[in-house]
Amino acid sequence: MRLLDVRDLHIDFATEKGLLHAVRGVDFALEEGEVLGIVGESGSGKSVTAHSTMRLLPPNAQYAGGDVLYRGESVFGYGYERLRGFRGREIGVIFQEPGRSFDPIYSIGKTMAETIRAHEPELTDEEIHEKSIRLLQETNVPFPEDRLSNFPHQFSGGLLQRIMIALALASDPRVLIADEPTTSLDVTIQAGIIDLLIRLKEERNLSIIFITHNLALISGIADRIVVMYAGLVMEQGPTSEVLAAPRHPYTRALLNSILDLGQHYTDTPITAVAGTVPDPLSPDVGCPFAPRCPLAEAACREAIPPFMQDGHLHRCRFPGVKE
Ligand SMILES: Nc1ncnc2c1ncn2[C@@H]1O[C@H](COP(=O)(O)OP(=O)(O)O)[C@@H](O)[C@H]1O
Ligand code: SF4
Ligand SMILES: [Mg+2]
Repeated sequence: MRLLDVRDLHIDFATEKGLLHAVRGVDFALEEGEVLGIVGESGSGKSVTAHSTMRLLPPNAQYAGGDVLYRGESVFGYGYERLRGFRGREIGVIFQEPGRSFDPIYSIGKTMAETIRAHEPELTDEEIHEKSIRLLQETNVPFPEDRLSNFPHQFSGGLLQRIMIALALASDPRVLIADEPTTSLDVTIQAGIIDLLIRLKEERNLSIIFITHNLALISGIADRIVVMYAGLVMEQGPTSEVLAAPRHPYTRALLNSILDLGQHYTDTPITAVAGTVPDPLSPDVGCPFAPRCPLAEAACREAIPPFMQDGHLHRCRFPGVKE
């Protein structure tokens, strides 16, 4: 069953310098039970896209076109009550910085209790306590009973990330959006979080959107990959196909940079792709990768290439040509 359907989504931000075009046409779908990886350099619009599926955008964001359907219904049409029931219950989110989910002056137990109470007001204090412990056990936080009285600063980054996952699971969502959840963690801790997410996916039949700037990180867990660049989807398809036969030069550059650097669960920036990303305040009319693309021709600069089907979907006029 298709859970999410993002269709030609456009999101702008009003800034002092003018309109910033953060998301300029994003299409993808999330099927039940799958892990969808969204990959792209910093600033490519991954977070804005993911957060717009929950209509969780900053006040200066402007919806500029397209749609997000959840189980066939537009989330932009939801009223206040529906939206409250939707966020967290249908889609849960974990962020790169656990700080966004925790108030430093509250113990972990208090934060968890508030979240559980908001979703299940009928539970007694005792039941809420038990559920908190169960959730921490499920996410492999050691000594959960003792740790409920601890404050966020008393946990390591990896444990805090596990507690954030427990919080997101408190309302039994169908979809979990993991927005660079391991970026600030070291390599072994990252691997542990990935293993946890894979187990939770199986046990809870979760569907996961895993966002990262590190192609190596998602290549092992994602069923399908969406490659984003400058607010646009450049290529998408089953992971094995995209990795074996990348159609877009940007995807190939991302792959090469992994091979060059021997990246695995690391946080190394994509230095191997020369050049810089376009300015989102005044993007060129053509293919946004043209200034960095060894294959660019005049035609590439005339208009953004439409999606083309060639094994899988991509936006390159000269797909599959090896540089
Ligand atoms: N509140 C905001 N106001 C203005 N610009 C923003 C805001 N939030 C994000 N942006 C811009 O939107 C673009 C996409 O951001 P984002 O989705 O966070 O990128 P990613 O998650 O891929 O690193 C970037 O250029 C970023 O600077
Ligand atoms: S459309 Fe042209 S400029 Fe863009 S990635 Fe393909 S070859 Fe390069
Ligand atoms: Mg981001």
